[in-house]
Amino acid sequence: MKKQNLLIGGREVETTRYTPLIAPYSKETIAEIADGGLEEANLAIEAAAAAKPLMRKMPAHKRAAILEKLARLLTERREEAARLIAREAAKPLKAAYGEVDRTIQTYQFAAEEAKRIHGETIPLDAAPGGEGRFGYTVREPIGVVGAITPFNFPMNLVAHKLGPAIASGNTIVLKPAPQTPLSAYFIADLLKEAGLPDGALNVITGDGKLLGEKIVTDPRVGMITFTGSAGVGTSIRAMAGLKRVTLELGSNAAVIIDRGTDLDTIVPRCAVGAFSNQGQVCISLQRIYVMEEAYEAFVEKFVAAVQALKVGDPLDADTDVSALIADREAARALDWIEEARSLGASVACGGTAENGVLQPTVLLNVPSPAQVSCKEVFAPVVLINKVNSIEEAIERVNDSSFGLQAGIYTNDLKTAMDAAEQLHVGGVMINDIPTFRVDHMPYGGVKESGIGREGIKYAIEDMTELKLVIFNRN
Ligand code: SIN
Repeated sequence: MKKQNLLIGGREVETTRYTPLIAPYSKETIAEIADGGLEEANLAIEAAAAAKPLMRKMPAHKRAAILEKLARLLTERREEAARLIAREAAKPLKAAYGEVDRTIQTYQFAAEEAKRIHGETIPLDAAPGGEGRFGYTVREPIGVVGAITPFNFPMNLVAHKLGPAIASGNTIVLKPAPQTPLSAYFIADLLKEAGLPDGALNVITGDGKLLGEKIVTDPRVGMITFTGSAGVGTSIRAMAGLKRVTLELGSNAAVIIDRGTDLDTIVPRCAVGAFSNQGQVCISLQRIYVMEEAYEAFVEKFVAAVQALKVGDPLDADTDVSALIADREAARALDWIEEARSLGASVACGGTAENGVLQPTVLLNVPSPAQVSCKEVFAPVVLINKVNSIEEAIERVNDSSFGLQAGIYTNDLKTAMDAAEQLHVGGVMINDIPTFRVDHMPYGGVKESGIGREGIKYAIEDMTELKLVIFNRN
């Protein structure tokens, strides 16, 4: 049985207690994870603070070289990494390979961005009194970045914190999700092998609330980057005081299907958007609004596509949908499905669960107050509702406390442009699902979906301070 210790100051640190890590699908214990407390969190922050001068002085080409080497090492160990994700997160293997490939790209983008961090010159003489002065800006690392990451992309969402932090010369204290710590420690080992100095990355696991609060409130940590629920994000913001905070939170992402669109292309894409990683994706397709002319045909084709999905062991190469991260999440989703039914929705397929595996579920005619519509379901559940106009569809999409990404399929240019303008979200996908993401694009939301943007270049802006320098030659 693997005994996973903490990583502090470049050394493995043992703790007095270890917690078994149970695989969500097989229910096997796959490792014993070190249970760090306040003392270990303090040591991790101390180590990150001590490594600050080294990282700050490290030239961009060296930071880039470390990240490039990490990407190479991960490419060599792709198979092992994908199997690790599949086991600890129950992410079906084909999606796990996809995540590893994206993680490699994320670190490659970070390596490239490390060489492009620059400021600008300021025409100071544009203001009376500014004559004879020369001004420029530079971007300096914040110092210690506190990173708190979720279980649903245990490698790539860690990469979205570590990549830009290292690229911009910061040090890090990482608290990965308690359900998926092994993927984070795996990357930490590769980073050490890639030449990251001791203390530049520290990984701690244990009581999530205790460790999280320490990271967020400790004055030595200059910036917090968090991906997770809106509830936790809100309390982080409240605790963080004047610290820079980036929050990537959830959503109940929606797509609009206009009349006259090619349903044979759209339907399989929507099935991927709704059921990939069991719907445990912040931009998972949760609400589908279809124009009345296309509604019947869309429902028929979509339900057939969903019934063809293979449900089972994440380690089977053919599996599309596997167990949720915990059995209680399947039970909660079933409660929400039952509530929707009691409010008048019908279940077109799915709606049952066993051993934490919820059958892919399609609900029809779901009223907006039902939790499967207005909250983030984070399970393989999608609703399809009929709309009479695009205006009504846009109104329904916007009638949400979230606003991460939205999609619209249409052949009409004006409709597409109206939707791009009127959808109140961080990203609008024209002729695609809201689940589209590549790792260099700006990614983030409005309303309760968060603040700030990821995508390496944008994350670097949040992880650096803009400093102004002015020469006066008068
Ligand atoms: C997320 O769940 O926020 C990340 C989605 C993605 O990276 O595809």
